[in-house]
Amino acid sequence: MAAPDRDTNTDPDRDAAPDPDPDRDSVPPATPAQDDAAPVTRWHRHTGGAVLLDGFHALKHAVRFGAEVEVAVTADRAAALALADELAPDVREALAALLAEVPYATYASLVPRPHPTAVAALAVRPSRAGNLAGLARTPRTAPVVVLDQPRNLGNAGAVIRLAAGFGATGVVTTGTLDPWHPTVVRGGAGLHFATAVERLSVDELPAGPVFALDPEGEDIRALELPDDALLAFGSERSGLSPELRARADHLVALPMRPQVSSYNLATSVAMTLYHWSATGGAPA
Ligand SMILES: C[S@@+](CC[C@H](N)C(=O)[O-])C[C@H]1O[C@@H](n2cnc3c(N)ncnc32)[C@H](O)[C@@H]1O
Repeated sequence: MAAPDRDTNTDPDRDAAPDPDPDRDSVPPATPAQDDAAPVTRWHRHTGGAVLLDGFHALKHAVRFGAEVEVAVTADRAAALALADELAPDVREALAALLAEVPYATYASLVPRPHPTAVAALAVRPSRAGNLAGLARTPRTAPVVVLDQPRNLGNAGAVIRLAAGFGATGVVTTGTLDPWHPTVVRGGAGLHFATAVERLSVDELPAGPVFALDPEGEDIRALELPDDALLAFGSERSGLSPELRARADHLVALPMRPQVSSYNLATSVAMTLYHWSATGGAPA
């Protein structure tokens, strides 16, 4: 795993990441460590290339969407399973089979920052080959979201959560941001497993008409976005890159009064996916 992100910036239109989880609550107090070698040993064995699922909801989503979970721990198994009874009865048995209880201090030592649900797990990252095959599959029944050189980890996580919610085919990023960075995964609430998430260059983008979002484009309300579209969004700081503009088939604008310069990246994606869903394409 990459190093934990320590940024405290609260502006998602800037480069660095705020805490992307607005559902987070206060953190329970630490309790003394006890012996819990087996899950901890497995944790350390798998931590290398694994995806950290931080909190109950991330684990719940990942299990729902078929993630291969290598180890899952909680400081309060009864509380975690009570949450499962209440919020996720569909995966309750799977969670019961996965979750090992460890002392709070042990749990806290395994994660960058304890989550209020005191649940954490490691999952296998889906293969790049599998994701590329999913992105290339035709006929495509839902758009691919392209984030062109995004900077803000929290925005990327929010977009992956949106894409999962709308049943998008995938989220592709260009540029240097790693869409599997732990902070992005935390912002995505475990939903990286519900859509194909990869980093590609503009040259490597999957086939399909590119609708690039830009305030100078054609009003989105006059358009129907096809299911095989690539919906491309520019970076928080400088908008669409020249390479992405050269690949674009259409420039599309979201309605905005003249005195406003632009919307936040993730809210732009939300409006665009909503428009796609409201004009024909729709999640099941
Ligand atoms: C925060 S904005 C980028 C602002 C940047 N300063 C610029 O020069 O474009 C991030 C992205 O959201 C999308 N976006 C924001 N407002 C939009 C609007 N009114 N119409 C279309 N796209 C918009 C665009 O894709 C934009 O590149």
